[in-house]
Amino acid sequence: MEIYKFAQEVISDAGAFIRQRMTEDFNIDSKLNPNDLVTDVDKETERFLFEKIEERYPDHRILGEEGQGADIEDTDGVLWIIDPIDGTLNFVHQLENFAVSIGIYIDGKPYAGLILDVMKDDLYHAAYEQGAYKNDRPLHDIEASSLKSSLISTNANWLVRDGINTPFIQIVKDARSVRSLGSAALEFVNVARGTSSAALFYRLHPWDFAGGVILLNEVGGITTTLLGDGLRLLNTNSIIAANKTIHAEIIEYFKADEAFIRNHKKFHKL
Ligand code: IPD
Ligand code: CA
Ligand code: CA
Ligand code: CA
Repeated sequence: MEIYKFAQEVISDAGAFIRQRMTEDFNIDSKLNPNDLVTDVDKETERFLFEKIEERYPDHRILGEEGQGADIEDTDGVLWIIDPIDGTLNFVHQLENFAVSIGIYIDGKPYAGLILDVMKDDLYHAAYEQGAYKNDRPLHDIEASSLKSSLISTNANWLVRDGINTPFIQIVKDARSVRSLGSAALEFVNVARGTSSAALFYRLHPWDFAGGVILLNEVGGITTTLLGDGLRLLNTNSIIAANKTIHAEIIEYFKADEAFIRNHKKFHKL
């Protein structure tokens, strides 16, 4: 449990670092396209976390969105998977609704997941089979729900993407309503808190989901690809994070759509 305690401290310190740093000027660059933004604060926060973890645990490995551990190809030993700012667009445009996310795995097995809602300074955390918490308060098991009586979350980008959008459109029509927050980590948190019944993503990277899957598992939630398969920890995956009842209902929409299955396979190089 020593690593878990240290992770709680280090993620809280990273939050304080961001809140201070964002009061000063920072640069904004784009990466793969003009809407894929990264700021100095993303990079500096990853560096901040890397230095603290490296100092305390020199033999641990760290994979981060902004370049740390880009050569990691296996899950041996203690692996920290880090998103220094999840929801960079929210950080830039809203100055809120973004998170630091950490998932720790030992020899590929879940050890601890931590997500800090930076501006609220709320820490959601869970150690494997030890329950999940919001700060010091335990989170309860989530409840079963059906699509027609549920709020779910997904990104509108997938609804306008030809070749994969048919099942997404039908799910949106059949759900009570849909929300989109813009931080995958905080969308996992909402499912774990029970304020959303399911979160659907066509593509997430390891740093987007590594913390959230451990957190959600501790409150009885389930995380698979949209076709119901297990996640590959070091690859991109489509993801549904949900209570078990609605999970079973939703994956049937994707499994029934041959064009979706074909394009999904190609996209994720399965
Ligand atoms: C993004 C956010 C967003 C999700 C994207 C992610 P970033 O992470 O989680 O909600 O839709 O797929 O890339 O780039 O802000 O860390
Ligand atoms: Ca990013
Ligand atoms: Ca992210
Ligand atoms: Ca990020």
